[in-house]
Amino acid sequence: MNNILAIGASNSSKSINKKFASYVAHQVKDANVSVVDLNQLELPVYSPDLEAKSGIPQNARTFLRLISEADAIVLSLAEHNGNVTAAFKNLWDWTSRVEMKLWQDKPILLMATSPGGRGGASVLNIVKTLMPHFGGKVVADFSLPLFGTNFGEDGVTDTELKAQLSAKITLLQEAMIA
Ligand SMILES: Cc1cc2nc3c(=O)[nH]c(=O)nc-3n(C[C@H](O)[C@H](O)[C@H](O)COP(=O)(O)O)c2cc1C
Repeated sequence: MNNILAIGASNSSKSINKKFASYVAHQVKDANVSVVDLNQLELPVYSPDLEAKSGIPQNARTFLRLISEADAIVLSLAEHNGNVTAAFKNLWDWTSRVEMKLWQDKPILLMATSPGGRGGASVLNIVKTLMPHFGGKVVADFSLPLFGTNFGEDGVTDTELKAQLSAKITLLQEAMIA
């Protein structure tokens, strides 16, 4: 069994990205899936002063441990004004203070979805560019536009998008074997 860490990069309790990441992680063969809820890794807003006064909060170390225990990561990014959500950026910032290469060379299927037609293309592009500097090995990326239309009770409904996604999941599986 492979340990897959599914992350929706949003602190919304109704996060479509968490739902999507969880769905995709469960498509990986022989997978033991853990889904991260950002609300359970709550952190104060990063500040150098707070770090100097109180050190690094435990939740940043917990996130680092969750990544270290994973064989692969399925990360779906929510897009806020073209970029990552404040909650995810904050988690990334605190964690990078413990370990700059926080993604620890784990194979990552990097995704984004949004209710709009661009499917989080902007944030996907930004994070894809950043990942190599932080130890992230993006083996495939995928954007699901129009979440409300293209995702139903049984997952991705559009046949073509479903086939594209399936090919990306295969790439993640192959990266775990390699
Ligand atoms: C402050 C804010 C900014 C947003 N900016 C964008 C955006 O730039 N692009 C986009 O496609 N959707 C944008 N949205 C809509 C989000 O894609 C939508 O809320 C989505 O559900 C977020 O993902 P989540 O459900 O996983 O949190 C924005 C929403 C909020 C609240």
